[in-house]
Amino acid sequence: MSGVDVNAPTLGSFVMRNTKDPELVILMNAIALSCKQIATAVKRAGIAKLYGLAGEQNSTGDDQKMLDVMSNEIMINALRNSGVCSVLVSEEDEDPIIVPEADNGKYCVAFDPLDGSSNIDCNVSVGTIFGVYEKEPGSKGTTADILRAGDDMICAGYCVYSSAVELVFSFKGGAAYCFCLDPNIGEFVSTRLMKLPDGGGKTIYSCNEGNSKHWDQPIKDTIEYFKTTPKPYTARYVGSMVADVHRTLLYGGIFIYPADKKSPKGKLRILYEGFPMAMLIEQSGGIASTGLFKGKVGRVMDVIPEDIHDRCPIIMGGARDVKIVYDMYKKAG
Ligand code: AHG
Ligand code: MN
Ligand code: MN
Ligand code: MN
Repeated sequence: MSGVDVNAPTLGSFVMRNTKDPELVILMNAIALSCKQIATAVKRAGIAKLYGLAGEQNSTGDDQKMLDVMSNEIMINALRNSGVCSVLVSEEDEDPIIVPEADNGKYCVAFDPLDGSSNIDCNVSVGTIFGVYEKEPGSKGTTADILRAGDDMICAGYCVYSSAVELVFSFKGGAAYCFCLDPNIGEFVSTRLMKLPDGGGKTIYSCNEGNSKHWDQPIKDTIEYFKTTPKPYTARYVGSMVADVHRTLLYGGIFIYPADKKSPKGKLRILYEGFPMAMLIEQSGGIASTGLFKGKVGRVMDVIPEDIHDRCPIIMGGARDVKIVYDMYKKAG
C-alpha cells in the first residue's frame, strides 16, 4: 500500500517486544485509550460545548476548565479499570486515589490529564503527561509509593493533541519513542525516535518572559545572553509545557520555568510535569536542572517531592544551552 508501512509496530506490540511485561502493555494500552478519548473530546470541544470553566479550582489554585475535568475522569476510569494500578495522583484531585485491593496492581501513576489549560479555548496545542512508579515491595499502595525521586520512575511520557496526536514515552535505557495516532485505524503507530539535537543550527529559548522582573539575576543574564549573542536565539513559547517540551526534544534549545520572587518553587508540579518531562529530556540526551533550588543547582530527577502537588523550578533542554545557565550561576557565585 503506497505511503503505509504495513510493518510499523503499534503501541501494544512494541511495548511487549521491548519489555516482555504484559502488565506494562496493559498500562500503556490504558494510557493510550485515555489519550484517544481526550483527543476526541479536544477535537469536538467547540461542537459539544466543552469550552470554558468548570467553576471549581484544583488544589494548586488553577481554575478548572470543563475539559480538565472530563480528561481527568477519562484517565481515572481507564487506569482504575486496567487492574494494574494501585495509586493514582492527578493534578485535578487534591488527594491520591487508592485503588481497592481487589482491583489493584503494581503501578502508581501520576498524571496531568490536560496540560495547557490557557490554550484550550483558542484551539492551541494541549497535552497529557504521565509518570509511572512500581509499588514498593510488600506495599498495598500508599502515597509513599509515589512520593519518590524521579529516578525511581520506570516509565514516563506525554501525548500532544495538535495537528497530529503524538504519544512520546520512555522506559529509560537511553531512548524515548514517538508514536503517532493513525486516525484511519485508531492505533498509535511507531514513527520516530526522539533525539534532542544539541548545539546544532537552531537556537531557541522558551519561557514566559512576562515574569522576568521577578527572576533572579542569573536567569535574567541568561536570557539577555540568548538575545545579544552574535547569533541571537529565537524565542518560542506556546504556554503548554507539552508543546514546548515536544518542540525542544525535536528542534533543540531550552525550556525554562524558573523559580522567582513570587514563586520560590516555580510553577510546574514535580510529579506530573517536572519528573516525566525531565526523564524524557535526559533519555533523549539533554539536561533537566532545577537551577538554584534549596541551596544547590541540581537535577530535577533528584528532587524528593514533599507532597503530591509540590512544585519545582525547571530548566531543561540541550546541554549547550543548560550549561549557559550553570555558567551564569557560577559567575553570580
Ligand atoms: P496546566 O494547564 O496543566 O495547569 O499546566 C499549565 C502549565 C504548563 O502547561 C505551562 O508550561 C505553564 O503552565 C504556562 O504557564 P504561564 O501561563 O504562567 O506561562
Ligand atoms: Mn491546571
Ligand atoms: Mn500542566
Ligand atoms: Mn493540567
